[in-house]
Amino acid sequence: MTLAAAIDPGPIGSIKIAPSVLAADFGALAEAVARVTPGSDWLHVDVMDGHFVPNISLGPPVVSSLRRHTDLYLDCHLMITDPGEYLEAFARAGAQGVTVHVEVDDVEHVLAEARALGLRVGLAANPDSPFEALDPFLEAVDLVLLMTVFPGFGGQSFMPEVLPKITQVSRAINDRGLTAEIEVDGGIDVSTAPIVVAAGARVLVAGSAIFGAADPLQAATELRRAAQPD
Ligand code: DX5
Ligand code: ZN
Repeated sequence: MTLAAAIDPGPIGSIKIAPSVLAADFGALAEAVARVTPGSDWLHVDVMDGHFVPNISLGPPVVSSLRRHTDLYLDCHLMITDPGEYLEAFARAGAQGVTVHVEVDDVEHVLAEARALGLRVGLAANPDSPFEALDPFLEAVDLVLLMTVFPGFGGQSFMPEVLPKITQVSRAINDRGLTAEIEVDGGIDVSTAPIVVAAGARVLVAGSAIFGAADPLQAATELRRAAQPD
């Protein structure tokens, strides 16, 4: 059964700007998203359950509302302890991609289940989860999300100590001829973007750097410019 709506994620390897709605005004979400859309490739949707991370954000009903208001690819980052319980709800709500954390139980099964629902599949790692935790799953995913802050809150500072892991994942993907893209999330702005891109990241999530700016569309455009590889 394929539920996920067909929205093209864009060419593999191109720089993708993914504003994180966590930093937007939840009371005027559709307007905030419309404003950044011309400068965006994906929309990053942070789902938090108050258990995997010490914060609660949004769930399938909000994804469903967003789906009615935007044609952007919905990149759902599931910071939840039991993602398997909710995959179908996210697919039905109109998500295209779901990313689950490698720190949860039974990752292999959850990834397979997401795939069977027609979703694009991502695997996320917290800053202190090593490359070795991700390694067995690189063949099975479309996306590897390397957290550059501990998840739970926007507006934190980028952790440069994650850079070697980005390089390591990038090398492994290239060496094995795989197609998974690397996404980074946390403290991404015009100064950190070139550094993560040089290490191999291609999908850049940014919350406060975009929605916290006076002109979010201009901020997204400037982020893309800063991220262009040499
Ligand atoms: C953090 C979330 C991020 C967050 C990033 O747990 O996964 O997506 O919105 O926010 P900034 O870009 O402000 O660090
Ligand atoms: Zn996120």
